Amino acid sequence: MSQTFLVFDSGLGGLTVLREIVAARPDAHMVYVGDDAFFPYGGHTETKLVARVVPLMGELIERHRPDIVVIACNTASIQVLPHLRERYTLPFVGTVPAIKPACAASRSKRVSVLGTEATVAREYTRRLIRDFARDCAVTLVGSRRLAGLAEAHLQGQSIADADIAAEIAPCFVDQDGERTDTVVLACTHYPLLMDRLARLAPWPVTWVDPAPAIARRLVDLAGPAEPATARGQVEAVFTSGKHPDARLAAGLARFGINALADATAN
Ligand code: DGL
Repeated sequence: MSQTFLVFDSGLGGLTVLREIVAARPDAHMVYVGDDAFFPYGGHTETKLVARVVPLMGELIERHRPDIVVIACNTASIQVLPHLRERYTLPFVGTVPAIKPACAASRSKRVSVLGTEATVAREYTRRLIRDFARDCAVTLVGSRRLAGLAEAHLQGQSIADADIAAEIAPCFVDQDGERTDTVVLACTHYPLLMDRLARLAPWPVTWVDPAPAIARRLVDLAGPAEPATARGQVEAVFTSGKHPDARLAAGLARFGINALADATAN
């Protein structure tokens, strides 16, 4: 029997993770859930997010019976994952800012972490820096608007370069003769704008996207793809109940989604 993986985010950002998971396990059945009725997660308190996501996850597990759940959202992983693990027995894979590999790879020893305001404010992220920054100077950049701009971009709206450039500008630090050379994308929405980020950067940097590592972790837990098995269904659910228009449907298809399911919660 094919396995089912539920991939969860506040909106469209988790698609950047889904894409890697579909590539690694094309045989599996995937349910992508965008909790767009509650977007953006970065704007909610921890208490509100826990109160929203824990019961919603119960409904989703009941309905879709996944073997593994991937929380493809840093903001939710950092704040809600311990509560989910406490409440439900199935395995969860989360995503947290890739500070350890970024600091290990940086040559200039100047690393920036770009995430939602909630992610950069959390003690969890600050502890990752204390534990893994080694000799790097780490700049935390909380962006209020970038996830929303990424959503709008995937929905086919035109986004001004200046709006993106303003959000990423604080990541670029030039101090004591050394410049930032590595930027951790600590929000799964941001790789949706990858081409624009690279073009608008004041100088070239390595952008660290955690999606391949998340897919590898999932394969570690679930095992590799069954050889010569038919492609699994990859369906999307939006908690707002919205039905994607033609432009968004084309965007979803680029990330591997080939079916739309009914919403379970609002
Ligand atoms: N995609 C989410 C993350 O990785 C956050 C976007 C939001 O604020 O909802 O943090």
